[in-house]
This record gives sequence, C-alpha cells and structure tokens, in this order.
Amino acid sequence: MSEAATRKTIVLTGASRGIGHATVKRFSREGWRVITCSRQAFAEDCPWPAGPEDHIKVDLSDPEDVGVAVAEIRHRLENDGGRLDALVNNAGISPKLKDGGRMNSLDTPMHVWRDVFQVNFFAPIMLARGLFKELATAKGSIVNVTSIAGTRVHPFAGTAYATSKAALGSLTREMAADFGPHGIRVNAIAPGEIDTAILSPGTDKIVETIPLRRLGATSEVADIIYFLCSPQASYVTGSEIHINGGQHV
Ligand SMILES: NC(=O)c1ccc[n+]([C@@H]2O[C@H](COP(=O)([O-])OP(=O)(O)OC[C@H]3O[C@@H](n4cnc5c(N)ncnc54)[C@H](OP(=O)(O)O)[C@@H]3O)[C@@H](O)[C@H]2O)c1
Repeated sequence: MSEAATRKTIVLTGASRGIGHATVKRFSREGWRVITCSRQAFAEDCPWPAGPEDHIKVDLSDPEDVGVAVAEIRHRLENDGGRLDALVNNAGISPKLKDGGRMNSLDTPMHVWRDVFQVNFFAPIMLARGLFKELATAKGSIVNVTSIAGTRVHPFAGTAYATSKAALGSLTREMAADFGPHGIRVNAIAPGEIDTAILSPGTDKIVETIPLRRLGATSEVADIIYFLCSPQASYVTGSEIHINGGQHV
C-alpha cells in the first residue's frame, strides 16, 4: 500500500500555540498527517516541513468562514481516500475584562457571549457534522477540549467560557450516542491549569491547592489526546478525562 493509503490524518483546531502546538508535535512524531487550523497564516519560519499545504487559515468565530474551511478540508482529504481518522476541537477563547478581571454572569456583554459560544461550542459541532462522512469512512474519533471550568466556578475563567465548556461536555455525550453507530468515537478532555498563554496572573495561588502542586505541561495533555485517538482507546467513547493533577478532587 502507498504511504498516503496507510498514513492516518488528524484535523486539529487551535494548532498554533499551547496545547494545540504540542498536539501537532505528538501526532507528527507518530507519522500522522496533521491538518492544522487557526486564524494565523502558516508561519514561514516554522521548522515543521508539512506546514503550508496542510494548514487552513480560518476564523472559527465566523460561521461562514467555518463553512468555507470545512469544504477546503474535505477537498484536501480527497488525496487520502476521503478519510479522516481524528478531529480534535481544541481552539478556545476565554475573554477577560480590560483589567484582566473575570467576566461574570452580570457583566458579560451579549456579543462576547455569542463569540465565545461560536468558537468554543458551535464550531466543534459544525466541523464534526461537516466532516462526518470522512470520519465514518475511517471509523475515526473526535476529541473535544473542555475545561475544569465547565463543572465548577473558576476564579479567572468567565461565565461565558465556563458555560460553553459545560455545553461542549454535554455535546460530547450526545455525539457519542449519535456518532457511535457509525463507528465514530467521541470523547472529551478537561484540562485544569496547563502552562499556556490562556492562564491568568495569580494561577500560582491555585497551584498551591492542587494535589500534584504544579501546572500541567502541554505535552501531558497531547499524550492523552493521542491515546484517545489511538486503537488503545477503541472501546472508549462518551468519556471526559480530567487532566488536572487532581484539582477536581
Ligand atoms: N491552558 C489551560 O490551562 C487550559 C485549561 C482548560 C482548558 N483549556 C482549553 O484548551 C484549549 C487550548 O488552550 P490553550 O491554553 O492551548 O490556548 P491558547 O494558547 O490560547 O491557544 C488557543 C488556540 O486557539 C486558536 N484560536 C483562538 N481563537 C480562534 C479563532 N477564532 N479561530 C481559529 N482559531 C482560534 C489560536 O490560534 P490563532 O490565534 O492563530 O487563531 C490558538 O492556536 C482551549 O479550548 C482551552 O479552553 C486550556
């Protein structure tokens, strides 16, 4: 069989930084084709060789742009037999007040609420539905990136963010029921405090109360995403795995 026929493919949103960037590296190391999606164009100084032709520039806060991106991804998958082994909905936004403060239920403007839900919640279901045929062909899997903030009030993550992640957690359960009969597994991972740009000043205080007493590394999250997309997780669907050093206990 040709390399293209045996190589697995993942579509990953929010690939340019943080958890997404570590996930690109994890899957590439295992020989997967990684199709990356983010607002930035592919950076020419990025040392990753497979870059420009497997990068999709998309603003997930714009539903029309998501539609265009889905069509473009499907087109690019044609060379790999129209199959997709994994979709990882990782991109997320967590807006703060101008002074860095938390946006709560009383002061979050409705347009911010809508933007957060479009990026964190609607884009994942639009991508999953748009790429359903390719995922079913490969008997692939989906991983939605939720958050510890989806299940408890967090000192920095705002209300719109928290509720969008709770909704994404519920969507994972619903999708597992709907996509399972087509051979597609759907799981979520819920990170706690992972060392990326999304963290707020003051996170060091939270870390003092986490059983493992440290931030998580992006590579530790990427390892679990990889596990969920691998044959080792072939009977796992509808689950949400905490990656938080015991913060939830
Ligand atoms: N870090 C944590 O401690 C933590 C904890 C719980 C949950 N999470 C979740 O984990 C995921 C990744 O977090 P992270 O900390 O790695 O975030 P990050 O460093 O802020 O990176 C966010 C990624 O999302 C992309 N993105 C943001 N808005 C976008 C848009 N409108 N369209 C397309 N792409 C967009 C960004 O790329 P561009 O800027 O190029 O568009 C970037 O690649 C998020 O869903 C976050 O909610 C993180």
